[in-house]
Amino acid sequence: MKLNIALLPGDGIGPEVITQAVKCLEAVEETFNHNFEFKEALVGAIAIDKTNNPLPDETLQVCHDADAILFGAIGDPKYDNNPKAKIRPEQGLLKLRKELGLFTNIRPVKIYKSLVNRSPLKEAIISGTDFTIYRELTGGIYFGEKKLSEDGTVASDLCEYSEMEISRIAHLAFKAAKNRRNKLTLVDKANVLESSRLWRKVVTNIGKSYPEVELDFLFVDNAAMQIILNPAQFDVILTENMFGDIISDEGSVIGGSIGLLPSASIGDGSALFEPIHGSYPQAKGKDIANPIASILSAAMLLEHFQLFEEAMAVRRAVDKALEKGIVTPDLNPKSTYGTHQVGDFIANNIVDEDDEINMNDENIDLGKSTII
Ligand code: IPM
Ligand code: MG
Repeated sequence: MKLNIALLPGDGIGPEVITQAVKCLEAVEETFNHNFEFKEALVGAIAIDKTNNPLPDETLQVCHDADAILFGAIGDPKYDNNPKAKIRPEQGLLKLRKELGLFTNIRPVKIYKSLVNRSPLKEAIISGTDFTIYRELTGGIYFGEKKLSEDGTVASDLCEYSEMEISRIAHLAFKAAKNRRNKLTLVDKANVLESSRLWRKVVTNIGKSYPEVELDFLFVDNAAMQIILNPAQFDVILTENMFGDIISDEGSVIGGSIGLLPSASIGDGSALFEPIHGSYPQAKGKDIANPIASILSAAMLLEHFQLFEEAMAVRRAVDKALEKGIVTPDLNPKSTYGTHQVGDFIANNIVDEDDEINMNDENIDLGKSTII
């Protein structure tokens, strides 16, 4: 298959993790005889530095022309603590989501057996956790009208949803539940918010077309608690933009590190794949960032194009790295493996899946490990 993939490495650790994901896609290309063309473009703080625009027109064009986009991370501390900054890196990502119509963000949360002891939660609580968050991505409070009074003392952000915006993602979430364990939980704040009451009404109606799917509702405060108390109860969680942002970070630590969680943003046309973690500026250039979320985002990209065997090869190689302890320090503080060594190991295992590639293999650029 020929695929044009736009690469938007962005800021902080973005470029490092994207490099590893590309390495893995190239391993897939070679092993399964595909043709992936990569085209890199600027986004985020680095784009502001170079063009004064977090999403230059040229980048948008590259994304429109591509079949899929692999996104790294954006954000820079120099903007975070400056409430007066008019141009912010995050605007680049938000505009990209809106312009490309990426209205559904899919964030799978699962547990790896080899990492149960890395979770902040007890093994008995996390065992069996396997859920997916369907987060609405182009509406709600993120995109509603923003106001700041002239004297700067009063501000507001409007949370608005239309029936159409709710129903298009709800159908995707119900379909996903049908292919999984037939359970859908709508997370909202319908006891307080009018917009949440509309979500309940629309989702309840759509639910009638999916009788095999059990639908339940949770207020977001309770959901935040339930995700920690009993994460295994969830199958598909459907929610609006900001609630999804918050509970997906919460869900990500159940597995032991936010550095493991990929995501797919889909919608009208092209699709975007990105780790859910941010730019982690403190780790930039130190070769300690976990590339797995980015590599698993590449696996989701492959699945999006029905390349299931290929995606499986990537996932198996990731599992192998985790089992053998070829991981970055976030997953094992004693590990001396760097970002690129984890990437090399995973890529090499995609190519030679049946060979026993281990830390002594000369193909892998090894550090002095104390792990195995
Ligand atoms: C995410 C991020 C973004 C969001 C930021 C960077 C704008 O936190 O993808 O979860 O809030 O959507
Ligand atoms: Mg977030």
